[in-house]
Amino acid sequence: MNLTEYDGKYVRIRDTHGNVYSGRARYGGVDLLECEWGMDEDGIFIEDILICYSQIESIEVIVPHGTVELQTEHIVLRRYRPDDAEQLYQQFGTDPEMYTHRTGAKSSYVSKIIEMEAFDMGFFELAKNRYSERFFDPKPVEQEKLDKILEAGRIVPTACNYQPQKFYLIRSKEGLEKLKTVTHFHYNVPLMILVCYDAREVWTNPGDQYYRNYNSGEQDASIAATTMMYEAEELGVHTIWIRGFDSKTVVDTYGLPDHMIPVMMLGLGYPNEKAKANAWHYKRRPIEDFVFEL
Ligand SMILES: Cc1cc2nc3c(=O)[nH]c(=O)nc-3n(C[C@H](O)[C@H](O)[C@H](O)COP(=O)(O)O)c2cc1C
Repeated sequence: MNLTEYDGKYVRIRDTHGNVYSGRARYGGVDLLECEWGMDEDGIFIEDILICYSQIESIEVIVPHGTVELQTEHIVLRRYRPDDAEQLYQQFGTDPEMYTHRTGAKSSYVSKIIEMEAFDMGFFELAKNRYSERFFDPKPVEQEKLDKILEAGRIVPTACNYQPQKFYLIRSKEGLEKLKTVTHFHYNVPLMILVCYDAREVWTNPGDQYYRNYNSGEQDASIAATTMMYEAEELGVHTIWIRGFDSKTVVDTYGLPDHMIPVMMLGLGYPNEKAKANAWHYKRRPIEDFVFEL
């Protein structure tokens, strides 16, 4: 058996212990293995697993069908971070015989895993991949993640650094039941953050002909909400931005003080099996509609 001929090919290896490995083979020459592993034989790496020549029971070249297929093309690689890849590997390996499994982790359906590369999304990918989630699983958002999300909302810029943003957590049974009475857009979220600003703390323009009575509360609260939204995305928590509610009803229902001005609600949670972006998400106007030279 000449192992060099398998270098770079997709193979399935059965070892002498009955383990089966599949994936792209990387030939490990005896020279390399001798100095790094103290071995006197060559072998094949699949990922970072080394199968030595003497341990190979059988090796066959397999035909790759593709890379990773997820049921919804728009979810492809969405949640595809090192953690997820690790979990997928553990669950499915890289065997091409695998098809149509629910990953469980992120409600994606994976078929024919042949090769996966985990990568960290940069902010641009994160921003591009975010969509408004409207199908939530009851699973609660972990406190650790929520703390991070809230922290992201704390450290944002605000006008004159007055920091008037307030976050009300709606996640108790009672709070969530009330939510259904104040907005149609509750989507059965396990956690809603009602983002407000405090009218006593907000920066207010002393008044000129353009900005009379203007205060920065909506902007301050929105930047906090936006930052929390992307932090959630980063942590694999899906979100929905909700403004479809009557502010007075919200204030009355939850007994908020009069100086608390609701700006929006951020729904957070994990997607259920129906999760997907809706058609609006894919309708984006061209850049010329947004950018102008002055
Ligand atoms: C200010 C604002 C208010 C919104 N209010 C609601 C809402 O009340 N209900 C809802 O289902 N989605 C709401 N959305 C979500 C938008 O419909 C959604 O962002 C838009 O259609 C683009 O889709 P995408 O977020 O999936 O890319 C709101 C978004 C923003 C920014």
